[in-house]
Amino acid sequence: MRTAARIDKLPPYLFAEIDRKVSEARSRGADIISFGVGDPDLPSPPHVIEALTEAARDPATHRYPSYTGMPDFRSSIAQWYSRRFGVQLDPDSQVQPLVGSKEGIFHLPVAFIDPGDVALVPDPAYPVYATGTILAGGVPVAVALTAERSFLPDLDAIPSDVLGRARVLWLNYPNNPTSACADHDFFQRAVDFCRANDLLLAHDAAYTEVTFDGYVAPSVLQADGAMECAVEFHSLSKTFNMTGWRIGWVAGALAAIEAIKRLKTNIDSGVFDAIQLAGIAALKGPRDWLDQTVERYRYRRDLLCDALKSMGIVVEPPRGSIYLWVPVPDGHTSESFTAHLLDEVAIVVAPGTGYGPAGEGFVRFSLTVPDDRLEEGVERLRRVVS
Ligand SMILES: Cc1ncc(COP(=O)(O)O)c(C=O)c1O
Repeated sequence: MRTAARIDKLPPYLFAEIDRKVSEARSRGADIISFGVGDPDLPSPPHVIEALTEAARDPATHRYPSYTGMPDFRSSIAQWYSRRFGVQLDPDSQVQPLVGSKEGIFHLPVAFIDPGDVALVPDPAYPVYATGTILAGGVPVAVALTAERSFLPDLDAIPSDVLGRARVLWLNYPNNPTSACADHDFFQRAVDFCRANDLLLAHDAAYTEVTFDGYVAPSVLQADGAMECAVEFHSLSKTFNMTGWRIGWVAGALAAIEAIKRLKTNIDSGVFDAIQLAGIAALKGPRDWLDQTVERYRYRRDLLCDALKSMGIVVEPPRGSIYLWVPVPDGHTSESFTAHLLDEVAIVVAPGTGYGPAGEGFVRFSLTVPDDRLEEGVERLRRVVS
């Protein structure tokens, strides 16, 4: 059987590879502790599960959902944006529910990238920005995120010939994998830059609700002019421990949302209504539930940072996200340190190079490991270095 040429252009999905290695090691009897995938171990909120259960009992929720999502779900997203960011969105024309934000992120280039067009993609980054671009026939051009620039892109350094072919700029703060955070000023500069260069700014805001030490992450849609050039992707996955439920949304510039809607009516048939009703319960539910989740991540972040420090690896505790971006010890590469941790102490981490060449010299630890396993992992890490 002959597959399409575009399939050959796709690298194996990083986490599918990690899953494969973990299964292999487990089948050899290894007691693996995986800091690999950012998949929350904590349960979804009880009030959200109750809302789902109740909604699933109603046969009316079992039919095809509306392509544009339930009006009440879209309204609750708009109300959440207003409460959380002070951003006003028209729920009918500026909000589109997604089958998890990955779905929308992957499809966005189909709506905005013609063959040969460039998408400016951070390096390192969540891999889907680049792979979606490739499958749309576009060219992802890396914009390096370096420690020296606090993992914010140097937009002025993008060559003008590249800029001339570019249609989309991807950003993601709090950032996966580096856990860097961006402030209002940076977002304003990015919006001004995109307006000046006729780019769509696509901001992936999956981690804005997991922040520490009093830091409150902004939305790109708060910037002046954002509604003319920007969309923001959000997800219930990380905020509410709902990765398996597949529910998120994209919101912002009306013309962009219109194009995404048109595309999606031809691709999928929306999110199960019962899950949208549960999504409303999540967005309208008590904030203290989220505070408890964030507190667990803070505990884990501090434990892991302390352990790494005692091993001579200094990691500044991040202000947001569920990750630590950890420099590898001298003499190691990302890949060799990843292999070393797996072979020596059965610990899985994600190699920085899985997020792009600029990830060399780093590995990513996810904080989505239950406390007792994380504590055991910390003990093992101390052994590696000593
Ligand atoms: C930066 C980033 N964006 C989007 C996603 C996808 O989230 P969802 O579960 O909403 O598809 C992830 C998942 O790991 C992510 O890290």
